[in-house]
Amino acid sequence: KQGLQVAIDGPASAGKSTVAKIVAQRFHYIYCDTGAMYRAITWKVLQAGVALDDEAAVKALLNQITIRFEPGTPVQKVFVDDTEVTLAIRQPDVTNAVSQISAQSAVRAELTERQRQIADAGGIVMDGRDIGSTVLPKAEVKIFLVASVEERAQRRLKDNAAKGINTPLETLKYEIEERDRKDSTRKISPLTQAADAIRLDTTSMSIQEVADRIAEIIQEKE
Ligand code: C5P
Repeated sequence: KQGLQVAIDGPASAGKSTVAKIVAQRFHYIYCDTGAMYRAITWKVLQAGVALDDEAAVKALLNQITIRFEPGTPVQKVFVDDTEVTLAIRQPDVTNAVSQISAQSAVRAELTERQRQIADAGGIVMDGRDIGSTVLPKAEVKIFLVASVEERAQRRLKDNAAKGINTPLETLKYEIEERDRKDSTRKISPLTQAADAIRLDTTSMSIQEVADRIAEIIQEKE
């Protein structure tokens, strides 16, 4: 097997994808953003005008589409079939609907399967909510990233400004808390720290410090 499986989980806007990308580059591992996969099917559901709670129709739609990643800077490109959705899946309409789609058992079963295939050969950094607990229970490295709601909302505010999205801080805080609540209380593989995961509170850490810490943990296991 070429390289380890590294699972990075945690609540919304905890810096998972930023850090996961840096770590993946450092070890020449593949990076897989599982949140982008849940966002991609949510985007498709909204596009198709399918009701968010029509589980049979959502399932049928997911079975019809491919979700692909392509390298890109500063962010990986995401495609649903031949349509690039990199920016579209970060818009508030998708962000605020995604938890309702990701709670559905058929969606989770299908995407978990696709994620396991991507991670099968090792040499992967995968970020999400249930990677260490459900998708890759045997991952050699499991990290659970947390940060205060205030700090996460501030980070999101900055990210959004760069994308031309102008949601106020108070709204962001509310949306982050709502998404965490829905993701943590859903019936199937809720957001939770795996028993063997290492918890890192990044509230007063820089991105580089977090990435360095995770790199150390990987090096100890490699
Ligand atoms: O990580 P990101 O914020 O892009 O994830 C978007 C949403 O996708 C989460 O709020 C959650 O509902 C869902 N998700 C999930 N399981 C994962 C990754 C994301 O349910 N492994």
